[in-house]
Amino acid sequence: MQSALTIADLKERARRRVPKMFFEYADSGSWTESTYRANEEDFARLKLRQRVLVDMSDRSLKTELVGQSVSMPLALSPTGLTGMQHADGEILAARAAEALGIPFCLSTMSICSIETVAAATTKPFWFQLYVMRDRAFIERLIERAKAARCGALVLTLDLQILGQRHKDLRNGLSAPPKFTPRHIWQMATCPGWCLNMLRTKNRAFGNIVGHVTNVTNVSSLSAWTAEQFDTRLSWADVAWIKEKWGGKLILKGVLDPEDARKAADTGADAIIVSNHGGRQLDGARSSISALPAIVDAVGDRIEIHIDGGIRSGQDVLKAVALGAKGAWIGRPFLYGLGAGGEAGVTRALDIIRHELDISMALCGLRDIRNVNADILDRAP
Ligand code: FNR
Repeated sequence: MQSALTIADLKERARRRVPKMFFEYADSGSWTESTYRANEEDFARLKLRQRVLVDMSDRSLKTELVGQSVSMPLALSPTGLTGMQHADGEILAARAAEALGIPFCLSTMSICSIETVAAATTKPFWFQLYVMRDRAFIERLIERAKAARCGALVLTLDLQILGQRHKDLRNGLSAPPKFTPRHIWQMATCPGWCLNMLRTKNRAFGNIVGHVTNVTNVSSLSAWTAEQFDTRLSWADVAWIKEKWGGKLILKGVLDPEDARKAADTGADAIIVSNHGGRQLDGARSSISALPAIVDAVGDRIEIHIDGGIRSGQDVLKAVALGAKGAWIGRPFLYGLGAGGEAGVTRALDIIRHELDISMALCGLRDIRNVNADILDRAP
């Protein structure tokens, strides 16, 4: 793994090792993918101020996210089907994050269940909740997350209805899944992936199968999921979930200052400025371009995090400079996972940590908690 020097290197390795339909499930945005691209491009447009001859010794990246100490301002975004990038993917990513001292957030749509990840880790991970029509199921999920001592609940607000991803449709990654000779060929050309998959029992949506009446296999699961996303979800439901959960609550998927004000009104602990990695509203602005107006609107009332398009430590630095307390990554850790399992995720995190540390020093700062907009080069 040491020869992978960038997240882009890990992405190319994952492309070769993960069956095409699952690699492209991660590497896709909705419709024209313009928002997916803008997330990365807008980070590249921001420039940093190089400073010289300042004391760069004794640097620290340590900070706190919703009151939890972390080794750097980074967290792993919740991603569905992570266990399809690599067998037991959620466990491997959670272990890598735990070893590096940053939060891992398990998706409702994960392959490994809350209990399986809890049994394989030693520190609390975070849990992401999609609100389904079946409120009794949601209550049970919240109870399960509590029983697993999850450190925070991340409530996703931007997926009441699903944005269309052309790659998934073209790859036949559908519900219910249809395994055609093409799919079998794609898997057969990735023997390492297949072998690992044969060794694990974690191959269905672990938080759902066996926990909902009548959902016992992949077909019944698909039918259930398709009608479960709640198009009527409202701010009142957020209050209901906050009360049921009772712990740290993070609202994910805020892109507009008006929504940010409403999110702050709920009394949640943090928001994540996010467009779901460009997988929902194609044509929406990038997360990093949305951040300043949201910081202006609610930065004094609620902790602000961001995800979408972060591919390097320099990107993390820019996000922190613009007012984000935490920066989350989705695809970068998925590429690491596909490239090399737990070692690949660790490599992705090491790459970002090293880039962040050195770049902060080259901006003339020693402590991430002192980073602010002064490190950005605003000159024309
Ligand atoms: C996601 N995302 C996501 N978000 C969420 O709240 N629940 C989920 O189950 C998923 N599933 C998911 C699957 C895959 C394959 C991707 C790539 C993304 C969105 C995710 O949490 C995050 O917002 C983005 O991934 C951030 O963008 P980057 O870092 O991938 O550019």
